[in-house]
Order: sequence, then C-alpha cells, then structure tokens
Amino acid sequence: MDKKELFESRGQKQVFRFWGELSEEERANLNSQAAEIDLEELDKLVATLVKGGSGQASVDFSALEPAPYISIPENVDTDPDWQEAKRLGEEALESGKVAAFTVAGGQGTRLGYDGPKGTYPVTPVKQKTLFQVFAEKIQAARVRYGCKLPWFIMTSDVNHAATVAFFEENKNFGLAEDSVVFFRQGRMPAVDHDGKIILESKGSIAMSPDGHGGALRALDRSGSFQAMEDDGIEILSYFQVDNPLVQPADPYFIGFHLKSGSTLSSKMLPKAYEKEKLGHFCVLNGVSQVVEYSDMPDELCALRDPDGQLSFRAGSIAIHVIDVKFARSLVAPESTVSLPFHRADKKIPFVNEAGEVQKTDTPNGVKFEMFVFDSIPFASNPIVIETTRLNDFSPVKNAEGTDSPETCKADQIKLFREWFTAAGIEIPSDYDKAIEVSALFAYTEDAFVEAWSKKPQELDFSSEIYVG
Ligand code: UD1
Repeated sequence: MDKKELFESRGQKQVFRFWGELSEEERANLNSQAAEIDLEELDKLVATLVKGGSGQASVDFSALEPAPYISIPENVDTDPDWQEAKRLGEEALESGKVAAFTVAGGQGTRLGYDGPKGTYPVTPVKQKTLFQVFAEKIQAARVRYGCKLPWFIMTSDVNHAATVAFFEENKNFGLAEDSVVFFRQGRMPAVDHDGKIILESKGSIAMSPDGHGGALRALDRSGSFQAMEDDGIEILSYFQVDNPLVQPADPYFIGFHLKSGSTLSSKMLPKAYEKEKLGHFCVLNGVSQVVEYSDMPDELCALRDPDGQLSFRAGSIAIHVIDVKFARSLVAPESTVSLPFHRADKKIPFVNEAGEVQKTDTPNGVKFEMFVFDSIPFASNPIVIETTRLNDFSPVKNAEGTDSPETCKADQIKLFREWFTAAGIEIPSDYDKAIEVSALFAYTEDAFVEAWSKKPQELDFSSEIYVG
C-alpha cells in the first residue's frame, strides 16, 4: 500500500485530495511528510486528546501535594551537604562525564522575533546573543574543569538551517567544531477538531515541532545518545534557550544529583506570585511530577502555609540534570512507558476546498507536544534543589513586561553589580548605566572575586562598563 492508499484507508484521505494537481516535487514532499506520521499513534491521540474531552491527563488535584526540595542553606560555603555536592559535581565535570544540552526548537512566537531565539541579542552592553552567552559559559567551564563538556543543541525543522548557519558565521564562538552537535527534533501533524490532519497548502501538511519532550526520541534517532555513551558522557545538563542566566555546568546541582542517586534532578525557585507562569513541582500518590501552570487550579496556586508562604511554591525553571542511561531507557524499543502528549489548541492556517490558504481568528485545530518534565514520574529519586533568580533564571519570553528583554538586562546588571560589591569595588550609588561581565572573565561570583583580584581593571563610571 502506498502512503496515499494508507492514509485513505485510515480516514485521512483529505491529505491527498489535491494529489492530481501536484508536481512531482510536491508529491515527493507530501509523501515524505506522510512518512513521518505514525498513524497508529495519531489515532490514539485523536481518540484521547481530541475527542475525549479536554484530553489532558487527569490529575486528582485533591490528592496533590507540594514536592519537597533541598533549600539553600544560610551559608553554602560552610554547609557540609552543599560542599560535598560541590566536590562530587566538580569531579564529574573534571572526569568529562557531563554534556550541556539546550532545547532550542521552539518558535518564539510570544517574543515576536523572526529567527531562532538563540540568535536574539540579550546582554546589556555588548548585545551578545543567547547562543553566544551559553557558548562563553561553556567555554569558561571547559577551561575551569579541563573537560570537553560537549554541547548538544536541539533545533527543529523551522529553525535548524538558520541556527547552524548562525554558528558557522560566528565560527562557533571559538568552540571546537566537533564539540557542538546540532540535531533536529521530530514533528507532529496538526489535526482539526474531528481529528483530520490539516493541510497548510495543497501539497503540504501542517506539521509542527513535537515539544521539548521530543528531545528524547530525537537524541536517540540522531545517534546522539550513542555518541554520548561512546564518549563517556553520563549526565546531561539541560536548559532552555530563553534563559541567559542559567549555569550550564553547576557543580552543586550535578553533585546533589549524584549524591542522591537521582536519575533526573530539577532546580526550583519559590514562585514570585500566585499566578507566575512556572510549572509546579508536586507529588501525587507518592509520584513526583510537574503540573504545568496552565493546568493548575487557581485555588491551589493561592493556597498558603501557616507561615504565609505559597504551599505550591516550588516553580520549575526548566533546568535539569538527566542521566543519559535513564533518558535512553525511556525511548528504547523495550521501554514500557512513554511520555504523554499534551494538546494545544491553535489557530492553524489551512487550505479550503477550493485549494486556497485561509487564516482563522479562532483556534481551529490541535497540535500535539511532549514535555521533558513528564519524564520525572519515571525517574529514580527525582530530587529538586532551590536556586536564586539572579544565579539561574531571567528568561526572555515576551516582547514587553515580565520575562522580557528589558527585565532580563536589568537582572544581568543587578547580578554583575553584586559581583562588583563582593569583590570590594564600590560603584557610585547614582551610577545608572549598564554593566556586563563576560563569562570568559568570570561566570560566578566567586570566580569574579578571584579573577578581579588577579586582574583588576580601571573603571570609568562615566560610561557603560564591560569586563571581558
Ligand atoms: C516552560 C515550561 C514551564 C517552565 C517555564 C520556565 C513547558 C511546557 N513549560 O514554559 O513549566 O516553568 O518554561 O521558563 O515547557 N522548545 C523546543 N521544542 C518545542 C517546544 C519548545 O525545543 O517543540 C523549547 C523552546 O525553544 C524553549 C523551551 O522549550 O527553549 C520552552 O518552551 P516554551 O513553550 O516557551 O515554554 P514556557 O511556556 O515558557
């Protein structure tokens, strides 16, 4: 049976309805898109997520509890647990067991930026892009720990070519070519509310990235898991492309992961306010999981402990340490579990019966996405550790307002000011210009204090300050 016949037999004949009008090239393209679709999987998703009510996995909210987490102690430098974690994390980094992993396949629609989000300029003085910030932090960690620390970057069909070209143009920001690996995530077709696959043009299916949870399948399919194992990589330091404050090689975090025998660890921040758009670390009947902000009932978001703190305060900032073996086991042929898909209702341009492309003002279709944090319920001893905003989180998500380029720059300046203060440098209280420190000079406060003591620089407070 060819693809056309197969789709027709599965109630999806509209996919090929303009077949007679297509050129050879268009037919080949449609066939190859059709080959990406697992019709059996799609049938199940339509039955459960599209036709079966709201479709999202139902959570028994009455039994939901906040997940425990490891809090930041009063003094990290003298806390034996944190110091042991640091030592273990440093050992893992030094012995080359860690790789950095960025998910960068999203479309960045909210930011309104036309290009891969990683190419967006974010730093306060030099306007370095997100990718350059990560590259410099990774390079600094390589030098600090004398390790390879390869960097895996997941792109998607929509931005793969532009991402790779951007790294080429910038000579990989000085990173060795074989130490940066790009691979594409998978795609899923969008369907209408009857479960019919939507055509975006006569010869093309409306396909979109399958969510960052697609990373696991894509790491496998691209041979990246194999390459990691061959290279002795046991641990992935996972982060999103939208967050320049992340520490891609945090020894404390890696150490706690190792020390507790966890296979998937996460960082949390106490939510700043009830409805902050962060996933919630929760436990349901003894199983750890993240309940996404859009799924969490308002009354649980508002629930408070007797001391006034939000009960479900542990917000996910999408920073994880993941065991390669564990991640690989989830997508192995013999795996008995799989990440669930979530439903997202979207406005999807489509071709009408006359073959014209039409746009819509209301959601007319459903996209399917997997989330990386849905691996947490399958993990052994999945721990959560606390961090601080300035040390780990100020994402660029929206064009304006919260989590925007403006708030992100302000947070970077605040962080660098703290480093200056820690190094004993007095910044005039009325100084209101930008400050930036390159990760190649220092990428933590301690490192800054040390680097500054060896190499102090003349500061001119009449202009912006850049330490590189
Ligand atoms: C995400 C998390 C949320 C967390 C918050 C912290 C989800 C569903 N929610 O929210 O729990 O509190 O970040 O900042 O992720 N991406 C891909 N491929 C895709 C889709 C997304 O690589 O198919 C990447 C994006 O490039 C981005 C990241 O995943 O790096 C986050 O995606 P986004 O949809 O912006 O998530 P948020 O709603 O911000």
